[in-house]
Amino acid sequence: MKISVIGAGYVGLTTAACLAQIGHDVFCAESDSDKLSKLQSGVMPLFEPHLEKVIEIARKAARLHFGSAGEAIDWGRAIFICVGTPPLANGDADLSAIEGVARAIAKRASGYRLVIEKSTVPVQTGAQLSRYLSVLSTNGLDYDVASNPEFLREGSAVEDFLHPDRIVVGVNSARAAQLLREIYEPVIAQEFTCPVHSDCPKCKDPVFLVTDTSSAELIKHASNSFLAMKISFINMVADLCEAVGADVTKVAQGMGLDPRIGPAFLNPGIGFGGFCFPKDVQAFIRIAEKSRCDFSLLREVDKINQHRVKQFVEKIQGELWVVRGKKVAIWGLAFKPNTDDVRFAPAIALAKSLLDEGASVSAYDPVAAEKAKAVLPNITYCADAYQAAQGADAILIVTEWEEFRHLDWKRLLSMVEQPLVIDGRNMFSPEEISGHGFRYISVGRAGAVPSPTAVADGKEYRSAQADKDVQESLA
Ligand code: UDX
Repeated sequence: MKISVIGAGYVGLTTAACLAQIGHDVFCAESDSDKLSKLQSGVMPLFEPHLEKVIEIARKAARLHFGSAGEAIDWGRAIFICVGTPPLANGDADLSAIEGVARAIAKRASGYRLVIEKSTVPVQTGAQLSRYLSVLSTNGLDYDVASNPEFLREGSAVEDFLHPDRIVVGVNSARAAQLLREIYEPVIAQEFTCPVHSDCPKCKDPVFLVTDTSSAELIKHASNSFLAMKISFINMVADLCEAVGADVTKVAQGMGLDPRIGPAFLNPGIGFGGFCFPKDVQAFIRIAEKSRCDFSLLREVDKINQHRVKQFVEKIQGELWVVRGKKVAIWGLAFKPNTDDVRFAPAIALAKSLLDEGASVSAYDPVAAEKAKAVLPNITYCADAYQAAQGADAILIVTEWEEFRHLDWKRLLSMVEQPLVIDGRNMFSPEEISGHGFRYISVGRAGAVPSPTAVADGKEYRSAQADKDVQESLA
């Protein structure tokens, strides 16, 4: 089927590429001319695992085209709206991009169109969209509006699209439901060439859930707010664990064994970031407020999360005594691993706070440095974790990138000014890092002091290393 996608961000680009992957003929529109020219010349404007490969396959098969919104509106009967809905100062979602697309469709489209909201929008946006299209359409537009919320996690968006637990469509007509079922048929049946796994298992049996539009819009905000609540809950428990000497890892493990709770999203840390949870929680609070419903529970979820970075800075002050003049290394800038997205990332707020305290900051992130530079120009960006650790009074782990699990701690011990690791993502066990000669502080667990043998080893290694450096410099 010819399908149009408007918006080529994380959601739009993944949606366009995956719809092409499952066999559709997709036209994707992007209004940012720089991003559009990159896409048209096969250059990725963002990092998302597997996405580049999927786009390449689709372009080679001539099933994925990039251009303007006007061309997209003419292209397919189904139009997915995947434009940004960023938060306004008061927490409301900014729907101006959605409104712009609706106006363009109303003025240009003739014949039938199924207009599908994939962007995360407040409940009743679909009803608003529908009214808008009927008032503004001048070309004999016959249309349906549907909600099809995305449940894509950055870092696994391609996988989440192709192997979803559920596909939710909110429709107000049988015609729209039928068309959406046709679009998603290959995913429902899990029948397509999977670009992620070689021998693709039928790893999911997706549920195709058909609801009314408003219910579908609410499912998205309610799901994200619930997951955010889970995270703030375990972070609150982590604070108590630190106060009473319990181990939050064990508490979370014990809780997660109850299938009604489940282990996922019970990892305590420096807080949730990204372009979804923070803004979706705020938007949900505003939606409830405007409907005169009391969502004070979510206000607390947001407050707990806002406080995480401040608490982390207090931990650093507790360990360094005087932060001014110290050098700290930040490992990880993206809001989570396997993405280059730094929007609402705790690392950005943390770095700014440390700079305000008079510390100097060196940072390393495998892919997010470029995007971080735009919002955090005055720190030192390093080529790897070692370079960031050189001369550091503290190593701060803020994003749990897999590569941080495979570092040479002996080498790190010889490079740091002080052997101190403060881990905001509980990546390691206290024993492991203290066994390498570092003091180790984390979240919701007792700190660990360096083991004497490791310190002795470290001294030996350091002197041997120093001798080696001297020999090399003499040579
Ligand atoms: C989220 C939802 O998971 C996804 O379904 C929705 O479509 C979009 O929003 P995303 O924002 O990409 O996806 O990332 P996610 O993996 O959910 O993590 C969000 C934040 O929560 C990250 O900063 C992560 O570090 C943090 N997190 C996650 C925790 O602090 N603890 C956890 O246990 C899990």
